[in-house]
Amino acid sequence: MSTHGSLAHIGVVGLAVMGSNIARNLAHHGHRVAVFNRSHGKTEALIADHGHEGEFLPAQTIDEFVASLERPRRALIMVQAGAATDAVIEQLADRMDDGDIIIDGGNSLYTDTIRREKAMAARGLHFVGAGISGGEEGALNGPAIMPGGPAESYKHVGPLLESIAAVVDGTPCCTHIGPDGAGHFVKMVHNGIEYADMQVIGEAYHLLRYAAGMEPDAIARVFKKWNTGDLNSYLVEITAEVLAQKDAATGKPLVDVIVDAAGQKGTGRWTVKAALDLGIPVTGIGEAVFARALSGDLAQRRATVGNLPAGTLPGEVINSDKDRFIEDVRRALYASKLVAYAQGFDEIKAGSEEYGWNVDPRDLATIWRGGCIIRATFLNRITEAYDSDPGLASLLLDPYFNGEMTELVDSWRRVVVTATRMGLPIPVFASSLSYYDGLRAERLPACLIQGQRDYFGAHTYRRTDKDGSFHTLWNDDRREVEA
Ligand code: 6PG
Repeated sequence: MSTHGSLAHIGVVGLAVMGSNIARNLAHHGHRVAVFNRSHGKTEALIADHGHEGEFLPAQTIDEFVASLERPRRALIMVQAGAATDAVIEQLADRMDDGDIIIDGGNSLYTDTIRREKAMAARGLHFVGAGISGGEEGALNGPAIMPGGPAESYKHVGPLLESIAAVVDGTPCCTHIGPDGAGHFVKMVHNGIEYADMQVIGEAYHLLRYAAGMEPDAIARVFKKWNTGDLNSYLVEITAEVLAQKDAATGKPLVDVIVDAAGQKGTGRWTVKAALDLGIPVTGIGEAVFARALSGDLAQRRATVGNLPAGTLPGEVINSDKDRFIEDVRRALYASKLVAYAQGFDEIKAGSEEYGWNVDPRDLATIWRGGCIIRATFLNRITEAYDSDPGLASLLLDPYFNGEMTELVDSWRRVVVTATRMGLPIPVFASSLSYYDGLRAERLPACLIQGQRDYFGAHTYRRTDKDGSFHTLWNDDRREVEA
């Protein structure tokens, strides 16, 4: 039903799938929603197809859109991140008044959000960069929402956003994350974890397929079973569905007719870039991003496939004790996944410290339990871990996860060895295990690196037995001097 005469509680600009689904979700929850899209056809289509679902105020022009909002005006932008978002912000800001609120619900880069928030504050407007996760379905039925921006503006948008978010155990999957870019930073890392999670699931599939010689149908059943235990999560659930799907045209498993070159829109890459700047090793996420890049370079793969020596490979798939291998793979998957989450939480902590956001990791574990792509049962355990020790040096040190690692690590090592012996790529399984061993190691080869740096660049080193910085006179008599 389109209602004229009364003002809208909120407006949505950008009515592609995510925008129109969010607008519908808002309408379903009793909010009167103004809707605007640059090409009016999308607005008309939304009203024609879904106008009966709630109260929409369709606008033909941005002026009409802004005029149809109650004060303080709340406009949610759902357009492509980057230049399109900047353009819409300018159009809105030019027509808005002091105290009005612009919410950017796209996957914007957090540094853009910091810049925009500053610019809008200077014009008397509130700017809320809100990460929204859950894909099309989540947008419609309850996403996880990660709003940043001033705490003051959360008072005006929080209840509204909470009303459309997913709910787990009575708690909405939406909370104020922190000032300016905090929400988009956290959403970016969410996506980085999503990349790692998808890649480890992919590696598990690949091993069951090519190390154990199983067919997609059988692997689908394995994932379905895994989804009833520790690995219970949205991504494991949909993996079983994708693997069970048959291609209508050929009758083959759908997964066999899909080109094995993964796309990416940028949030995984940003997570790694930001981690590099912060000095946080997000090796699992990094390898996942690079694995997509490797898969996507089809020209290079055409040149290399079949043309690089593999060494001596076993030549046959695992036949004996297949059940043990499957269980080993499950454990390797779980362990690598825990590493990815631990690394992601480390990055969020570092980002929060760098920008003074004061992000509470418990909030994230809580709101990621529902609605979002990485929703998983074990997030409850992460909340508990930070509840009992908010200053945890690594999630892996929490007694529960530490206990899990005790159970997982032998299997994890066996899987990495088997895959390596069989010449199967497992970049995240292997690098996560190396990261884990790096964290455990009493001595790392960094001592030698410091020696090398001192040799060629007089960069100095510290000693284990006394304070201060030292340099060896490498090109002289090799005496050590205090630097
Ligand atoms: C979500 C998703 C969503 C989208 C990402 C990832 O949380 O709902 O992360 O934001 O799927 O853009 O896309 P790419 O895999 O294309 O980078």
